[in-house]
Amino acid sequence: MISEPNNPGFNTPEFPNPEAAALARFIDASPTPWHAAEMAGRLLTSEASYVPHEPGASPLDSERGFVVRGGSLIAWNWATDAAPRSGDALRMRLIAAHSDSPNLRIRPRPDSGSVGVKQLGVEIYGGALVNSWLDLDLTLAGRVQLTDGSTAMFSHHGALLRVPQLAIHLDREISADGLKLNKQTHLNPVWGLGAPAPGEFRDWLAAQVGCPASDVLDWDVACADTRPSTSFGKTQEFLAAPRLDNLCSAYGALAALGSTTPADGPNIVVLHDHEEVGSTTATGAASAWLTQILERLALARGIDRTGFLELLANSTLLSADMAHATHPNYPDRHEPSHHIDLGAGPVIKHNVNARYATDSEGAAKFRRACAAAGVGVQDYSHRGDLACGSTIGPVAAAELGMETVDVGMAQLSMHSAREMMANADVPAMVAAFSAWFRPRVGS
Ligand code: CO
Repeated sequence: MISEPNNPGFNTPEFPNPEAAALARFIDASPTPWHAAEMAGRLLTSEASYVPHEPGASPLDSERGFVVRGGSLIAWNWATDAAPRSGDALRMRLIAAHSDSPNLRIRPRPDSGSVGVKQLGVEIYGGALVNSWLDLDLTLAGRVQLTDGSTAMFSHHGALLRVPQLAIHLDREISADGLKLNKQTHLNPVWGLGAPAPGEFRDWLAAQVGCPASDVLDWDVACADTRPSTSFGKTQEFLAAPRLDNLCSAYGALAALGSTTPADGPNIVVLHDHEEVGSTTATGAASAWLTQILERLALARGIDRTGFLELLANSTLLSADMAHATHPNYPDRHEPSHHIDLGAGPVIKHNVNARYATDSEGAAKFRRACAAAGVGVQDYSHRGDLACGSTIGPVAAAELGMETVDVGMAQLSMHSAREMMANADVPAMVAAFSAWFRPRVGS
């Protein structure tokens, strides 16, 4: 079990198991992908044996190490003292998850307003359920680029913004037509009274990171809900939190890696930013970044290019992302023979059109891991008359040329500002992912 970050900013509610409590702390400390990557590194360093490396500096020769670039992280557990083996004797086990979640992002020139109210211009990041962002007490977090070449992270505490919903008396069509939101005009949060003044946001940001406004060159800033994650339900069955998709899987991958030793390896965790916007970025799943880091890790261990290519062919990637539990109010939206229960363990995602990368060989490997961990496993198959979502699995499989299996934990409200899952699924996930990193003979 990875030790937990020191995060005294809020009171932790009672969770029925320590893994769910640790996941809640990880999520609350990670309002943006950049914070998630930083927090992931902090979790790994607090294990005392994971060494941070600069992504552009070699050699990557720590047995337990990691690199961070922006909102992405690659961590490894890979012995350096073992004599190089031929490719057919060595294989990697990987777990990949994404670090980003849909949200509202602050535009480059955000100072705006209307009718005597100051507002911030936002752009929607990814496929957010925008209705879920209405009437929340929002705050801001992100990173700021400064004139001296440094990057400053910040996370504001306390309510700062709100996207107020139109009153029902002024929106009589809502009962017949449902809520209709225009992404350009209806989602800009309010944050003050008076006429907007150019430069106000930059001034505020400069104060957040403790520098003059003239030092602020650029920023990546996202809105975040101020409410901490919480446990709820008649007997605390459920976990309500922002960003479960996909910080839940990210946490599971990190906790599993923390439970392994170099003798179990090579084991790799990758957290990719930009899944929600298509993955085609320098550190997204469609990039060459993971392949490049893996090859540098191999070279640092005396494995040549031929050996590395053999290694890729022998290795397996677990693509971990959240899965749709069957919704109690909409069971008709689900394939009737493939209902997914909250609290019943990990889900293998199947799609014959390769929206998920799983095939029977990969699925069998994950089933063996779940059996070794003593946790149940479920099978997801999408309705034939609904368009299926996708994951980084097919993208990563194509980029690496590696066998890949798509799995995830069941949740409701995917892409809402506040999602939910079962507390019991968190330790089940950690157990299954830990077993994935310790394959038995024949698995
Ligand atoms: Co996801």
